[in-house]
Amino acid sequence: MRLEHKQAIVTGGAGGIGRATAKALAAEGAAVAVVDLNGEAAEAVAAEIRDAGFTAIAVQADVASEADIERVVETTVAAFGGVNVVFNNAGIIRRTTAVETSVEEWDRVFGVNVRSIFLMAKHVVPVMAAAGGGSIVNTGSGWGLKGGGQAISYCASKGAVVNMTRALAIDHGPQGIRVNSVNPGDVNTGMLRDEASQLGQDADAFLAEAADRPLRRMGEPREIAAAVVWLASDESSYVTGSALVVDGGGIA
Ligand code: NAI
Repeated sequence: MRLEHKQAIVTGGAGGIGRATAKALAAEGAAVAVVDLNGEAAEAVAAEIRDAGFTAIAVQADVASEADIERVVETTVAAFGGVNVVFNNAGIIRRTTAVETSVEEWDRVFGVNVRSIFLMAKHVVPVMAAAGGGSIVNTGSGWGLKGGGQAISYCASKGAVVNMTRALAIDHGPQGIRVNSVNPGDVNTGMLRDEASQLGQDADAFLAEAADRPLRRMGEPREIAAAVVWLASDESSYVTGSALVVDGGGIA
């Protein structure tokens, strides 16, 4: 049990990577608040964790909303007595070029993928600092490091996640708060199928292409979860500001 006495918030906790990570954190002893826009799906994940004998609550929230983020932090502190782990993982993608992207879509992608992490830091850092520190893990993307095609707002937003992670690590390291990003390659979740549909491509062909990398397969959500568990745990106590890539061997 590497995460005994940890209280964790997982955003996007009802999705592929979020659900696997919420379960993995709980199985290592953390009490977990499963946060998602889809409140019913978040409750189902929390129930699954409780049924396995671990501790979880669900909180419906839009991570782009400051009022919702404040409520997430307050609810978690009220339920568990504190927060010392946050996995900022909720994210959306729009598979469009700059020419095809509306200002509203650009702002929504940045609201969900970037403003959410700023808002969470604004409201959770004081709680963590008062308790002596904590670990924040942000979901970036391989495309936040090297770019990608037909996803201009997403690539820009994930680049922002990687650099905001470094900035937060610099600001809050002295308070005992570590901040790292985990940067997946293609992972077998609903997001990839959504991308195929946005691009008007066959899902199976799209997934087969996603497997074209040195390890010759897509990632599974539990493989991202394992990296997050390590970054959340005291085993990574001297790691901060890093961009951990978990992508089966990136291809340009
Ligand atoms: P997913 O679509 O399975 O899960 C995303 C979850 O976020 C969903 O449950 C959704 O309801 C929730 N969500 C969306 N907007 C929200 C909002 N405004 N407030 C609260 N919750 C919201 O996708 P997946 O693959 O699990 O993605 C998780 C993270 O991993 C995202 O940040 C994504 O960009 C990132 N990622 C995923 C990759 C992949 O290949 N699946 C590759 C690289 C990064």
